[in-house]
This record gives sequence, C-alpha cells and structure tokens, in this order.
Amino acid sequence: MALLILMPNRDSSELEGALRRCEPQLDLRVWPQCGDPADIVFVVSWNHPPGELRRFPSLRAVASFGAGVDHMLGDHDFPCGVEVVRMIDDDLVRDMAEYVCCAVLSHRRSWLHYHDLARERRWRPSPYPRSSRVVVLGLGRLGRVAARRLHSFGLDVIGWSRSLKSIEGIKCIQGRPALESALAGADYVACLLPLTPETEGILDASLFACMKPGAYLINVGRGRHLIEADLLAALDQARLGGACLDVFVTEPLPADHPFWNHPRITITPHVASLTNQESVAAQILDSYRRAVEGRPLLNRVDLERGY
Ligand code: NAP
Ligand code: GLV
Repeated sequence: MALLILMPNRDSSELEGALRRCEPQLDLRVWPQCGDPADIVFVVSWNHPPGELRRFPSLRAVASFGAGVDHMLGDHDFPCGVEVVRMIDDDLVRDMAEYVCCAVLSHRRSWLHYHDLARERRWRPSPYPRSSRVVVLGLGRLGRVAARRLHSFGLDVIGWSRSLKSIEGIKCIQGRPALESALAGADYVACLLPLTPETEGILDASLFACMKPGAYLINVGRGRHLIEADLLAALDQARLGGACLDVFVTEPLPADHPFWNHPRITITPHVASLTNQESVAAQILDSYRRAVEGRPLLNRVDLERGY
C-alpha cells in the first residue's frame, strides 16, 4: 500500500520530507515515478492531469493539496467510488484572513497611492473614510475567519453563504435578493467562494450593477468566479473603483493580459493562502491511515455539492 504525491509543476520536497519524518516506514511515491500502479491507495493531488487517477485500480481516496477541490472535480474521468478530502489547516485560514484584511485596509488607507506620491516626493494628505462596509461572499472555513478579522478592525461586515449562518459581530445573509441589497451599501466585496456550477461567473456585470458605485472587488476564490471582460467594463465605466485579484481564469496570467497594466487592478500570483507543506503532513497521514484501515475520513468533500 503506497501514498502517491501527484502535483505536476509543484515542488513537493518539503511535504515529502515532512511525511517521511512523521512516518519513516511509509511507502511514499512521487509522480511520475509511481512504481506498480496497483500499490497506490491514496493520492495527494494538485492539478493532476485529467484521467490520470484511473491508472490506479486500488485507489481509495484523494486529498486535494489545498482548500479548493475544483481542480479535481473538473476531471470528468475522476474514478467512481473514490472519496475526496481537502486540507483544513489553521495556517491556511490565518493566511487568507491576513490577505483579505491587507487588501481592504491598504486600499482604505490609500497605501499604494501614498507609495506612488512618495516616489515623487509629494506630501498630499487626504481624509480617509470613517466607516466602511465589507460583504464577504462565502462563510466557510476561510470566509468566516476573514469576516471576523475584518470586523475586529471596526469594519461593518456582512457575510453571504448558501445556508444561513450565525457569527458574532457579522450580519449573515443568504439568497440573491439579500445579497443584492447588501451590495448596494458595500465599499468592499471579497469573494471566498468555492468554484462550483452555481458560483462560476458570479462576479459578472449583473452583480457589479448591484454594487455601490466605486466599490472595490477582491477575488481570492477562483479565477472563473469572475467574468474578466465585465470587470474591465465596470472599471472603465467607474462602476467599480478598483480590484485586487489573486486568482485568474488562466494561471500564470498571460503576459499580454489587459489586467497587468490596468491602473486600478492589483495583481498577486495566487498567493493569498499557500498550503504549508509541513503543517499538513500529519493531516495527510491521518487520512491515508483511515483510508487504508477503512475508517471514515475527516474533511470529506461533498461531491454532489461540489465543495
Ligand atoms: P468552504 O469551507 O467549503 O466554504 C465555502 C463557503 O461558500 C460556504 O460558506 C458555502 O455556504 C458558501 N457557498 C458555496 N456555494 C455557495 C452558493 N452557491 N451561494 C452562496 N454561498 C455558497 O470553503 P473554504 O475552505 O472557505 O474555501 C473557499 C475557497 O477559497 C476555496 O474553494 C478556494 O477556491 C479558495 N481558496 C483560495 C486560496 C488562494 O490562495 N487564493 C487559498 C485557499 C482557498 P454554506 O456554508 O452554506 O455551505
Ligand atoms: C488554493 O488555492 C487552495 O485552494 O488551497
């Protein structure tokens, strides 16, 4: 019985070291050196080539190396009966909250604007808003902590999710009509949704039309949540004031993409929250042992729901 790391184009050496330190006897393989495919019972995957998992007849479960599982569920040849788990990790949650707070607060306090002015030795103080409202889309493991952190800075936070939540300090809402009325008063909108057929393209012209003119968009969910042409149009028409984007339809963002040079778009290269290879090793081994022993897996993904 072997555990396979299947993460093309990603350096997994830290994870390999951590797994070996935790369990020296582990039969660990690293794709594409899989050995006998029949040995593989558990795979840790990030962007595996579609259809590749079908090569392993004894496969019991696959762990997404991140919080999102869209890269796996988009594989139309995903083998039937194989369970999917995902990473749920304190570092991942903390880092995402930190990124979202940075995006909101640096815009609110004009950090980049003052950075540019300082390069020109210009001293131009201007007032900053006394209050700001943020709408957080998605109140899952990541969204709810980001919402609480934003609230701790004195921001007025509204959180939207599929099922209604109750989170101290956060006004929780569900349903499209409630979202649209919340957007009308929001200065910031942060997308922390999973990518599913229901959420794909949710950040489109119809949503931007509900937003307060000049509002600022933060997308840390997935690139395909956003209709990129609609964002460019909304910025050109000053419907939106700016955007901070960490995820893109095509990653890496192509060199000729219009986002690169847009004066009101801040780009980061999918780094809002990176899985800590050290800290998730114990969780991966626990899932592997459970899969081997036929015990229920933790952090399972509901394949019907898509997250
Ligand atoms: P999660 O725990 O599965 O939570 C998802 C949240 O979205 C839940 O609150 C869910 O509502 C809500 N939701 C799902 N579909 C919805 C819909 N149709 N309408 C309204 N709300 C909906 O996910 P998570 O761990 O917080 O992660 C969220 C996403 O962040 C990941 O899927 C991934 O795409 C992204 N991510 C990005 C980075 C990065 O570096 N940029 C890093 C990690 C993760 P319910 O609570 O009612 O189910
Ligand atoms: C990163 O994007 C993740 O889903 O963990």
